[in-house]
Amino acid sequence: MAASARVPTADGKDVFSMRIISASNYEGMSRKAASLLAAQVVFKRDSVLGLATGSTPLGIYRCLIDWYQQGILDFSAVHSVNLDEYCGLSPEHDQSYAYYMDSNFFRHINIQKENTHIPDGLAEDPDGEGARYDALIRSLGGTDIQLLGIGHTGHIGFNEPAPQFVKPTHRVELNRKTIEANARFFASEADVPRYAVTMGIGSIMAAKKILLAANGEGKAEILYEAFFGPITPQVPASILQLHPDVTVVADEAALQVIGEKAPEAMKGC
Ligand code: GLP
Repeated sequence: MAASARVPTADGKDVFSMRIISASNYEGMSRKAASLLAAQVVFKRDSVLGLATGSTPLGIYRCLIDWYQQGILDFSAVHSVNLDEYCGLSPEHDQSYAYYMDSNFFRHINIQKENTHIPDGLAEDPDGEGARYDALIRSLGGTDIQLLGIGHTGHIGFNEPAPQFVKPTHRVELNRKTIEANARFFASEADVPRYAVTMGIGSIMAAKKILLAANGEGKAEILYEAFFGPITPQVPASILQLHPDVTVVADEAALQVIGEKAPEAMKGC
């Protein structure tokens, strides 16, 4: 079910309208989020999809692969731009996001390899790489829909809590909490890269549509803070309150705090 959250300003005007789509569990969240990406590709076969990594989107990619295999979806004209990549990991490293995207999605569908784009984690000049990546996204006509997860720190991509929002794609030092959270994918915490190249807040906000997926009670508090707390670079996802077209697809566990503290946003959900 979907509901729409409107936040009135002092003069009573709505500043944003975020849709919330609730699912009973991870599978349901995955199917609903995947169906929105699928609709985008059906409507526009040469869509530019902004893609994400992490554990959250895995079920979404499984659904899209399934629908491709059933002949429902065709990715041959699609371009993709990924949010981020660890610094220092080559695409062959099994924890690089390039490897993740290839093994969990790209190699199972008919997207053309040359149409898939991920920041270069090995770039010697991270600033130059950021500028190249933003120019590339612009040259593709911009991102039609950007899939996002959310980190426990409120990060989107790898935009960590910071004194200010950083707009362009850039190199970032990872937060301790993020390193701890991502250590589960590496042999040890010491192996987690300390830096990443991430689309900046401006690069993400330039997407025509945002689709944020979240599951599990561990995301419930940060999801509430991001969409109902103050807009602050200390909670990077809170900037999404200013985006005109945001859909949050989440399971009931992740929506628990929103349901308790902002029940009006969940009406019809
Ligand atoms: C990583 C990624 C983010 C992702 C986040 C949450 O740090 N850079 O893009 O949203 O983790 O991950 P998960 O989906 O595993 O909770």
